[in-house]
Formats: sequence, C-alpha cells, structure tokens
Amino acid sequence: MTLEEARKKLSEAGQEHLLQYYDELDESGKKRLLHQIEELDLSLLKLVEHGAGETERGELAPLGAVTLEEIENSRSRFEKRGVQAVQAGKVGAVLLAGGQGTRFGLDSPKGMLKIGVEKELYLFEQLVHNLLDVVEQTGAWVPLFIMTSKINHADTVSFFKEKNYFGYRQDYVFFFVQKMAPSVSYEGKFYLRGKDELASSPNGNGGWFSSLADAGLLDKIKALGVEWLNVFAVDNVLQKIADPVFVGAVLEQGCVCGAKVVAKAEPNERVGVLCLEDGKPSIVEYYEMTDEMVHSRDENGRLLYNFGVILNYLFRVETLEKIMDQNLPTHVVEKKIPYLDGNGKYIKPEEPNGYKFETLVLDMIHMMDNCLSFEVEREKEFAPIKNATGVDSLESARELMRKNGIPF
Ligand code: UTP
Repeated sequence: MTLEEARKKLSEAGQEHLLQYYDELDESGKKRLLHQIEELDLSLLKLVEHGAGETERGELAPLGAVTLEEIENSRSRFEKRGVQAVQAGKVGAVLLAGGQGTRFGLDSPKGMLKIGVEKELYLFEQLVHNLLDVVEQTGAWVPLFIMTSKINHADTVSFFKEKNYFGYRQDYVFFFVQKMAPSVSYEGKFYLRGKDELASSPNGNGGWFSSLADAGLLDKIKALGVEWLNVFAVDNVLQKIADPVFVGAVLEQGCVCGAKVVAKAEPNERVGVLCLEDGKPSIVEYYEMTDEMVHSRDENGRLLYNFGVILNYLFRVETLEKIMDQNLPTHVVEKKIPYLDGNGKYIKPEEPNGYKFETLVLDMIHMMDNCLSFEVEREKEFAPIKNATGVDSLESARELMRKNGIPF
C-alpha cells in the first residue's frame, strides 16, 4: 500500500492519527506501518458503536448433562472405548496458551507460572503431567498442539525446550501462533503502540482451529489419524486432558462434540452455562440470563440451567473442517491498552482505556449439531488460576492440588 492509499483509507474512517509519526520513520518502519494499515479491518469500528456487551440471543432452553452418577455407572464402558480411541491415535490435545492473562498480571507466558512451593513445578509442567497420566494408562502418545501468540511464542517454545518438554515426547509437541487484532479507544480511534506499529492483542481463543490449519498442522493431524481434538485452557491445574472416560462417552453417544461441565455452586455463579439456543447447543453467559432462568428448577429441585463450562471441549475434526470458514461472532472487550500518545509518550494505563476484539471457542459450540454435556467434579477437575488473589487464584488452585494429593 502506498502512503497516498493509506491516507485515503484512514481519512475516510477518521484514523489519520496513525500516520502522525510516519515522516520520522526509516524505510523499513514506513513499510511496516503501511502494511499494518493495509491489513487493518476498519469494519471493527462498527462494533465499537455499541461498546462492550451482549449479543442478541435466540430462543434458549435448558440442556441436561450426563451426570456424575450416570458416568459412575458407565465408567468402565466409557473408559474402555476412550482408551481404544487414544491407542488408535484418534485423539489429539490442543492447549490454548495465546492469552495475555491480564487479570493475573504476569509479563511471561502464564504457563511459566511457578506453582510449586516445596519443589520446582510450573503450570505448563503440571498440564504435561496430567497428559502423561493418560500416556501411561494407554501406552500411547497423544499429539499435543500448543497455541501461542506473537507476544509469547518465543518464550513459550524456548521454555519447553529448556525444560526438555517436561518429559513429553518432543516429536508429539507442535506449536502454532494465533492471530492478533487491533485495539481501539473508547472514542473509536485505533491506538499506536509505537511509531511504526499499531497496538494489537491476541484475537481470542476462537480462531484456534483456523490458526492450526494456517500453520499447516491439519496435514499433520490427518497423517497421524487424529479424529478428535480436546481443547483446553492453560490455567486449570486440575485439567484432565484426553480423558478416556470423556472421550468414550462422547463416542458412545454419537455426538460431534462434548463439553466438560460442573454443577453451579449457587444459582448466581458467574459462569457460562451450556444450554440449547434455537434447538442447537450453545453457551449462555451468566449476565445474559433472566432471573427466572437463574432460579428455575426441575421436579427434583435441580436448577434447569445448572451446568457451567470449564473450557474443556472435545471436537470432531471432520466437523471442525466443515465450519472452519464460518464466521464466529466478534466480542468487544474492555481492556487496559498501552499506547503511544500524541506527544510520543508511551502510556501504560492503570484502568481500562478501550476495547480489544476477540472470538471465543465457546461460540463454536453453537455451530455443532449436538454436544454432550459431561459433568465432572469441580473439586477434582477445576482449579483455574485467573486472578492474582482470592477467587480462582494461585492460592485457591494450590488448595485444590493439596486436596487431590498432587505434590507441589
Ligand atoms: P481467558 O479468558 O482467561 O483470557 O483465556 P486471557 O486473555 O488469557 O486472560 P485475561 O482475561 O486477560 O485475564 C482462557 C484460555 O484461552 C486462552 C488463554 O491462554 C486461556 O488458556 N486464550 C485467550 C488464547 O489462547 N488466546 C487468546 O487470544 C485469549
């Protein structure tokens, strides 16, 4: 794109300030900035008009889960089937590690967080240990795909190398990088991060499958014969990965997807709940639920909208390929965005000062024809580290590790 073309594109959208420092740049800086302006998706500005918040929903209805009791009764059958699938090489795992973890506030990748007290133990390491349990149980290596972002890719890869993949087989670990999205002020002006660079942040965890495909890893998945991908978050230390019981249940029910869920601790718990939307599986956020939905119960006194998702999903690869070109909704999220101001000063705000744009893996659920809601015990499988202190913190995660007898 030429300077003239960039000026035209930007002035039509009231974004000329992005060229404020252009004349100060050397040739490569100029090229770099023009390239970013060429790539810049101005249609995002339309989303900002409404600010952060809700999207319109279809008709919502409750969706039950295979409960703990039912799973217990069928455990050995599910497990056998899942073990067979893992042994046949049909199951892969996808670790979503491209987020910035701003709530926790860490400069390095979140997975590098030291969770050990008595011994050296990192978040990444504990996740690998969890997966190694399945390797040990089945005698088969599960391919592990790790999504990073431009911001944390190099650190993540070198950390795994330095730590010798925490005992995992190196040729079964594949890294890929997700895309970025620009950040914008509350007034709808894109931020600069440097004189030759727009401010941007990872574009959410929804693009994981297309990023995996862009990285050429779909060929690898095919070559390995992987038919199912278990997607999970980096921050849950109790995360069971490629869990044969879960895999076996989804296979037996003939579903194209499965979601691990936990029963709500109380009706108003702030979790996304798996339900039906216009007859298809979907996740409704706690703030989208009416009072009636929050409190209504079935004839046995159980909440109708009872099962919260924990970001552990199993997807059929064939189905993912079919929906790959469909657009996920873009969420507008308030965020603290470091930026270069009009006087050339780099500002690191203490409070949110604009929006980032994200697509989310949970929206993929609504693209599935069905989804097995699979209940797990919160205390055994859900110990997320989101915040520095208090609820869902390192402290609360350590407490649950202790309860589960995990040495740390
Ligand atoms: P979170 O919702 O906790 O988002 O991510 P986050 O950006 O990491 O953290 P906050 O909100 O700034 O505190 C859930 C999972 O999705 C991954 C995260 O790494 C985590 O495993 N994720 C999130 C990505 O891989 N890419 C993203 O762009 C965002």
